[in-house]
Amino acid sequence: MNASTSNTPALYPRRSLLRGVAGLAGLVLTPLLSTLSACGGRGNGMGTMSPTPLINPNLASARPLPIVPLATGTVDGTGTRRHSLSAQAGTSQLVSGVNTSTWGYNGALLGPALLLRQGEATALTVQNTLAETTTAHWHGLLVPADMDGGPHQEILAGSSWTAAFTVSNAPSTCWYHPHTHGATGRQVIQGLGGLLIIEDSASAQALLPHVWGVDDVALVFQDRRFNADGSIDYALTQADKGRGYQGDHLLVNGCHNPVWQAPQQWVRLRLLNACNARFLSLRLSNSAPLHQIANEGGLLASPVTRSSLMLAPGERAEVLVDLSGLSLGQSLSLNARSSGMMDSGSVEVSALFLSVNQAAQAGAITALPTTLPATPTLSAPAGAIRRAFSLDGGMGGGMGSGMSFTINGAPFNIARTDFSLTANATEVWTFTNTTGMGHPIHVHGVRMSLLSRNGAPVAAQEQGQRDTFVVDGNGSVEVVVQAPAAASAMPFMLHCHILEHEDAGMMLQFVAV
Ligand code: C2O
Ligand code: CU
Ligand code: CU
Repeated sequence: MNASTSNTPALYPRRSLLRGVAGLAGLVLTPLLSTLSACGGRGNGMGTMSPTPLINPNLASARPLPIVPLATGTVDGTGTRRHSLSAQAGTSQLVSGVNTSTWGYNGALLGPALLLRQGEATALTVQNTLAETTTAHWHGLLVPADMDGGPHQEILAGSSWTAAFTVSNAPSTCWYHPHTHGATGRQVIQGLGGLLIIEDSASAQALLPHVWGVDDVALVFQDRRFNADGSIDYALTQADKGRGYQGDHLLVNGCHNPVWQAPQQWVRLRLLNACNARFLSLRLSNSAPLHQIANEGGLLASPVTRSSLMLAPGERAEVLVDLSGLSLGQSLSLNARSSGMMDSGSVEVSALFLSVNQAAQAGAITALPTTLPATPTLSAPAGAIRRAFSLDGGMGGGMGSGMSFTINGAPFNIARTDFSLTANATEVWTFTNTTGMGHPIHVHGVRMSLLSRNGAPVAAQEQGQRDTFVVDGNGSVEVVVQAPAAASAMPFMLHCHILEHEDAGMMLQFVAV
């Protein structure tokens, strides 16, 4: 870290972390278990599980928000839309003035948003220029198992892989990231990740702001902490192994303390929580509503007006915000606070400043649409096969290994297929969380709709289709699952999207036969 940045607070939380680790030395490990089952338990020697506080940025020193580039790819003579990604190493300034070694696709950090069209033949080629094996998983895409980019589709150092499929998702915001066996958390922390923007040809887009980077803006949230030399600190503490990795810097599009020069009109924000583990609750500083129009599976039947919105790791939401009533020059912020286990006292920080200083686009929408072409909610046929999944946490097997996280009592085994579905069948699955912390559950390759949450009907914003949803601490979620269309011996994954839980074994695999 150079002299000009010596006043940045990068070192501050490091000290508190070291205190936390020192505090652990004398701690009997069993209390970690009771922390997990006692939701909201605080203090009392539980400092090792307590949240890493976020640093609160200020507008005076804000940097321009990096706008995620939208790649349209090229359509070849056969009508196939082709995109190319190259996983590579580089240097970025996540924090102003601090050089950090990072990884990205087609650049030093993150990657382009890839435009895909529903119904179109698509080929995504990934070149691995890194010195280690990686994979590229299309989170949310309904693709054949051998095109999914999970831990079985390894891309060795120096080689490349092409996923070819026809896009069957509804218009929505999905994303891609590594899914390397045992190394997903570390490779994502290093910077690998990007968005997938699925559109159809006619589309609802006309009803919605759709000028990319101007009134249709993607916001990718991630947290990181840093070593004194500016490198990313991914040395997992006992706390990180328990509740998942938390950094003290909240980044938007890879930038700490960003400001977006926004137009004076209705805007659409595509929100992705790409944190390894931190749950985020978002709201506007002026208390203006967030009108949620989409969740993971695409558009909702009508906008859901919310004062704040919680996103767990892996989850997405699209919201409309009315900036037309603000005067030019006015600023506000999109605030974030942690929203996980034991985060009830956490401080709200300004994740992103919005400075309204451009006139409205010609053709900007002037009112909130009342109905939207929704992605249909699945229903359960009578007599559907039912399956139960128990989300469990407990002490690890080896000395000092800390927490283990499992599904149905078994840690992930890449050589074991946990269950089989009949291709195209519709089933009902129940997830029961026996731990006190929420786990964001993600299932590859299937269509899913929520039937109930903690025994009650689900809120409007949880309807439609979802690929990632939280099972609350000590709670349960019931989902309708439509199995993959194609039979294959290649497994799909089902796991917790707290990446440290996934890497620690909170994952199963299944096949469609
Ligand atoms: Cu976003 Cu199995 O992953
Ligand atoms: Cu996925
Ligand atoms: Cu988990």
